[in-house]
Amino acid sequence: MKRDFLHITDVSADEISEILQIAKEVKAKLKSGEMYTPFRGCSMAMIFAKPSARTRLSFETGFFRLGGHAIYLGPADIDIGKREAVKDIARVVSRYNDIIMARLFNHAHILELAEYADVPVINALTDYNHPCQIMADIFTVQEHRGHLKDLKIVYIGDGNNIVNSWLRLAQRIPLHFVCACPENYTPDEATVAAARKAGLSRIDISHDPMAAAKNAHVIYTDVWASMGQKHEKEERMKHFQGFQVNDAIMAAAAEEALFLHCLPAERGLEVTDSVIEGKGSVVFDEAENRMHVQNALLLKIMGVV
Ligand code: CP
Ligand code: NVA
Repeated sequence: MKRDFLHITDVSADEISEILQIAKEVKAKLKSGEMYTPFRGCSMAMIFAKPSARTRLSFETGFFRLGGHAIYLGPADIDIGKREAVKDIARVVSRYNDIIMARLFNHAHILELAEYADVPVINALTDYNHPCQIMADIFTVQEHRGHLKDLKIVYIGDGNNIVNSWLRLAQRIPLHFVCACPENYTPDEATVAAARKAGLSRIDISHDPMAAAKNAHVIYTDVWASMGQKHEKEERMKHFQGFQVNDAIMAAAAEEALFLHCLPAERGLEVTDSVIEGKGSVVFDEAENRMHVQNALLLKIMGVV
């Protein structure tokens, strides 16, 4: 049976710990200059319907460094669901490649892609979620904090795809997760309900960022208008006033709180320069760790480890 990684809940709590451990080992191997090429002779198709810097770089470079060959297919190559039906492209791409990574708009399309593909499919972001990002985020928190116990994560901003992935993670590892967002920008209701029903984590939805930030070990934010919503940016800027992560928010958090942002950031909107450049900011470690954690995920999903 092939394995897909479409949501964080597609892996168990034990597998999450295992992936983080493998990421640590493979990161050390690459840093030491050791040759480690388990994907020699393998190819990965990377389907992008949306722009990307980190996701393309981390998957393409990571797979190459492990001996494989990654093929970039942009919107002009596969206009998924428009030029060709999802279920057709799934089977075509499977005939040439050992694994598929896809960044799509419609979440239903990634589910269909995985259903019809004969090879594993990795979700590299949809309008609904971004599971690879959140794996890199917890790996980064673990590196800096030493452990993931009793963790309070406060996300301030839009209840978007990043938040849905944190909520899925909360079904697997215990967290106190707070999403502080404007009233009309709350995360997916079913995902909030599922996270609460799992009974493992405390989930709070707040509209008061300053109160939410109290005792946070991690302050997280993301753009107010995601890809596909950029035309709403002006309108959203009005609704998100008061939801900027600034020095006052960081001062309200726990001492030595970390600042995370999946990037790209719109400096001066959801976050100030001073916070991104500040002492708690680990955003560039977080970006680098995308590669290490995805390498570990690929090794696990493809059954190498
Ligand atoms: N964080 C992230 O996924 O970045 P890109 O959109 O640049 O890939
Ligand atoms: N929420 C953002 C994340 C980018 C990595 C978006 O979907 O555009």
